[in-house]
Amino acid sequence: MLNPLAIVLVAIVNPPAIVLAAVATLLVVLVTSVRGTGWEPTTDVSDEVLEHRASSVPETEFPEPGNRAVGGGGGGGGAIPAGGAEGEGAELEEGGTASAGPGDIPEDEVEYFEVEFEKQGETIEVANNEPLLDSGENEGFDLPYACRQGQCVSCAGQITSGGNSEDYVVHDNQQMLDDGELDEGYTLTCVAYPRSDFTIETGETP
Ligand code: FES
Repeated sequence: MLNPLAIVLVAIVNPPAIVLAAVATLLVVLVTSVRGTGWEPTTDVSDEVLEHRASSVPETEFPEPGNRAVGGGGGGGGAIPAGGAEGEGAELEEGGTASAGPGDIPEDEVEYFEVEFEKQGETIEVANNEPLLDSGENEGFDLPYACRQGQCVSCAGQITSGGNSEDYVVHDNQQMLDDGELDEGYTLTCVAYPRSDFTIETGETP
């Protein structure tokens, strides 16, 4: 395509070509304005791209920021409670203090009860802040156990003094025995703290 500036220059140095240059310039301007540049704006596809990404990227399941700290309180930013332990055992009660278990008895308030281990043929004194399983093991009894957390029945025994086992012991969060089994005297020795004298048959499961 002819450059209009070149045409004008040619016209200046060659006067007879002025008319021809003017006509040529006019033609160039006319053609350019009619054809345009050929450029057309592209369609805005940003919404389409965003929708595609939203449908193809899987949902993430990050916790909400407010749920990161134990108890849902803000400000901690996911801090682990004192002690550093994680999991269900580290849960705190509302108010932020750990619950006291039946074994949390100050030494000057400890009481002892007579517990007859029938199969072992011995009666021992068991402190009310010590589980039956630990007390029996300290005497050298070979007693069954697995989790030591009240979450299986490996350590189960049966109190044969009559009535509900919880008339004689307090369980620290046992999760396996139902009311009927407790009524029959069954206990989980790993989490059972004595509150009275009684006789027990170890190695007895419901
Ligand atoms: S050892 Fe599992 S409940 Fe006692």
